[in-house]
Amino acid sequence: MDNLILNNGKKIPNIMLGSFQMDDPKIMDEIVETAVENGVYGFDTSPSYKTEGMLSDSIKKVIKEGKATREDFFVDTKIDSWQMIEKKGQIRPFVEFALKKTGLEYWDMLLIHWPQPEYLTKTWLAMEKLYEEGLVKNIGVCNFSVRHFNELEKAGAHIVPMVVQNEIHPLNTEPELVEYCKKNNIVIQAYSPLCRMIPMMKNNALINILAEKYGVSVAQIILRWHVEMGFVPIVKTSSSKRVIENTDVFSFALSKEDKDAISSLDQHFKIFLESRCCPGY
Ligand SMILES: NC(=O)c1ccc[n+]([C@@H]2O[C@H](COP(=O)([O-])OP(=O)(O)OC[C@H]3O[C@@H](n4cnc5c(N)ncnc54)[C@H](OP(=O)(O)O)[C@@H]3O)[C@@H](O)[C@H]2O)c1
Repeated sequence: MDNLILNNGKKIPNIMLGSFQMDDPKIMDEIVETAVENGVYGFDTSPSYKTEGMLSDSIKKVIKEGKATREDFFVDTKIDSWQMIEKKGQIRPFVEFALKKTGLEYWDMLLIHWPQPEYLTKTWLAMEKLYEEGLVKNIGVCNFSVRHFNELEKAGAHIVPMVVQNEIHPLNTEPELVEYCKKNNIVIQAYSPLCRMIPMMKNNALINILAEKYGVSVAQIILRWHVEMGFVPIVKTSSSKRVIENTDVFSFALSKEDKDAISSLDQHFKIFLESRCCPGY
């Protein structure tokens, strides 16, 4: 595993593991332990997933066993829309409470989960303060399009988000956002990077031909494409075996033609529908 460098000079792992829809602490322990054994230290959680506590407990166990230190880990969490609304953007108490509850001392990344319209900019300005005080090491956003970045700038934000976490996979490649992020030195975390392996993704003819050509699995072809695109895939699995499979993508490289062919599968297909909280393009 390697790291990418954020626009503040700090490091972020180039593959991370998700925790959405995980609810078994025993499985979480196995996932974190297997990840660490295989050099994977990046994890993503959120209050709405109800995994902040469970993930933190598994991380603390591994630290207690002397297998890793807190500094080895990179943990994302998020500010949910209900939190933005309840505190009208003044979200500090939620962050302080979650840190106390989990005992992780700091979050490596705090993200706005959805660009909830009323309190988006107020929340961002409150997050800038938490970052400056060191309570969170990095700050970023999710489910953003270019106009949301413009809104932050207009509202007087003085910190460019370090990352944006959006739904990205071969069926939804978001070229406009990618171009904007390249220009502004913002790292892209790709959520649902396997498009949840729905049939349209896992049975895709090109991806299956490439899996055979490179002698790897369909998931490995997709995750290797993410890495080569410079994205940080946040991939979720409840299987330790798949943690190993999904992160073993550094022993082969796609040819430029194959990488471009995968990018051309884009059809603006998203699992997560646009909504009031994610007004989209
Ligand atoms: N910011 C946001 O708004 C947002 C939204 C959604 C998700 N996320 C984050 O992104 C993470 C990942 O997204 P996701 O869970 O939606 O989708 P995903 O990672 O694309 O797909 C997860 C699904 O793929 C299966 N899978 C994983 N590895 C596999 C493999 N090697 N072969 C076959 N199937 C495999 C998993 O099943 P098993 O568990 O059975 O292996 C699970 O059903 C989430 O956990 C969350 O942390 C963020």
